Amino acid sequence: MANTETPRILITRRWPEAAEARVAALGDVSFRAPDTPMSHDEWIAAAEGHDVIMPTVSDSIPAAFYDAARGKVRLLASYGVGYNHIDVPRAREAGIAVTNTPGVLTDCTADLAMGLLLAAARRIGEGERELRAGRWDGWRPTHMIGKKVSGATLGIVGFGRIGQAMARRAHYGFGMRVVFQNRSRVDAETCASAGNAQQLDSLEAVAGEADFLSLHCPGGPETAGLIGGRVFEAMTPGAILINTARGDVVDEPALFEALETGRLGAAGLDVYVGEPKLDPRFLRYDNLVLAPHLGSATDATRMAMGDRAIDNLEAFLREETPPDLVT
Ligand code: DGY
Repeated sequence: MANTETPRILITRRWPEAAEARVAALGDVSFRAPDTPMSHDEWIAAAEGHDVIMPTVSDSIPAAFYDAARGKVRLLASYGVGYNHIDVPRAREAGIAVTNTPGVLTDCTADLAMGLLLAAARRIGEGERELRAGRWDGWRPTHMIGKKVSGATLGIVGFGRIGQAMARRAHYGFGMRVVFQNRSRVDAETCASAGNAQQLDSLEAVAGEADFLSLHCPGGPETAGLIGGRVFEAMTPGAILINTARGDVVDEPALFEALETGRLGAAGLDVYVGEPKLDPRFLRYDNLVLAPHLGSATDATRMAMGDRAIDNLEAFLREETPPDLVT
């Protein structure tokens, strides 16, 4: 954008206070009042009056927005690392740049994945529910037996920043052996520094060796339904699935089927198809640990995400290539 213009910027959801204060100084900034996803009509209206829109991962952007925004909106600077809520080719075609916030939520997301793994393996949610309901009748040798984590094999799907952070936690913290599947070949040095992780040739091979399978690949059309019947069939019986990636990576009907047959022993989930509305079947299983998309939800990380989104905006306003331009 030319330096002389005052950019009109829309922030679609509430941000940490300090991030809102920082962005407020950068132009004519509208902070949308309701902290809810924008409706179809709001998106179309937003296309009219803004040069920059800063959405987030739970905003669902209607297809009609891109045509409406052509020649008007110049940047979608998203607050969040995943960008499957944005149709990037369509945005590019409409002349809209897209940025995200990678790197700053790696540790917190991997921490949550490890937490879900431990909670699902050791039945922590189920135990707490029993205790709170006054149903606990004391220690006994056969009470609420879980699955041992230390020394077990962790399978990772998607060995990017977060997958590698998960591998380090599992290997150095819990002595786990790590195997993984990744779209492209990962170099030996990266594998060595991420807990001597071993890349296997197929998803099924990873599923077949894993006691725990943790998903860290991006969402979107390329990975939709990736964890389906074939993968559940290949899994070690009783294995545990962890998903902090995106809901649509898992074929949910196939997951329920695998829980019914016992092929899947338990799961720790942070993301769901169509969230925040969940398939009611999720609530039926005591061996599911269910979190409401909390991967990045710490004060430090949510502030860092704001800073990263604003760094991208500032670079764009200086007419430089934003550091996190999504290609
Ligand atoms: C992201 O940024 O993609 C995360 O899902 C938010 O926690």
